Amino acid sequence: MTVNIKLCTLEDLQTLQEVSIETFYDTFKDQNSPENMNTYLEKAFNLKQLEKELSNKGSQYYFVYFQNEVAGYLKVNIGDAQSEEMGDDSLEIERIYIKKSFQKHGLGKYLLNKAMDIAMEYNKKKIWLGVWEKNENAIAFYNKMGFVQTGAHSFYMGDEEQIDYIMTKTLD
Ligand SMILES: CC(C)(COP(=O)(O)OP(=O)(O)OC[C@H]1O[C@@H](n2cnc3c(N)ncnc32)[C@H](O)[C@@H]1OP(=O)(O)O)[C@@H](O)C(=O)NCCC(=O)NCCS
Repeated sequence: MTVNIKLCTLEDLQTLQEVSIETFYDTFKDQNSPENMNTYLEKAFNLKQLEKELSNKGSQYYFVYFQNEVAGYLKVNIGDAQSEEMGDDSLEIERIYIKKSFQKHGLGKYLLNKAMDIAMEYNKKKIWLGVWEKNENAIAFYNKMGFVQTGAHSFYMGDEEQIDYIMTKTLD
């Protein structure tokens, strides 16, 4: 099994949009209305928005490849790029998505370990993320990876207010 990782650049914009839409849609389509889904996809993953995020110095996107095919991606934020004010000693995992057909093969763990390496490289003390309270699979995965719930915040999916748990892992 060949697994590789690559830091995304502006040249990856199109592929990033495709993998972002595919994985978000597959993950949440069954629990959300088509209207709210479309509103969110258009807002979060339009090319202008992704270009802005790729150009933000506090953010990094990575693709993970399995046998040379893009199997998923990771987005991490530090400093002001974090989506909540968590301070300068923390790193946020804003997005971690593996395509359906590649899940449960260790690739999520691979990306999570990459986020931990980046956090340690930047001398961060903790990693945090927001996860929808109904996303039981991801919560089980994060628990397995040593994250614990430390709070909650609101998240808007179209016009529906949803609750995200904040989960944190302290780095020793
Ligand atoms: C959540 C996600 C990133 C996990 O990635 P993955 O590649 O499927 O998980 P891995 O194969 O790397 O699993 C790593 C470990 O977590 C465990 N795990 C993964 N999913 C689990 C689940 N649903 N329940 C219990 N344990 C789970 C695995 O058994 C494995 O344990 P091990 O280290 O003892 O072998 C992936 O399933 C995904 O992209 N889901 C859809 C998108 C999503 O919800 N993203 C998060 C948004 S906040």
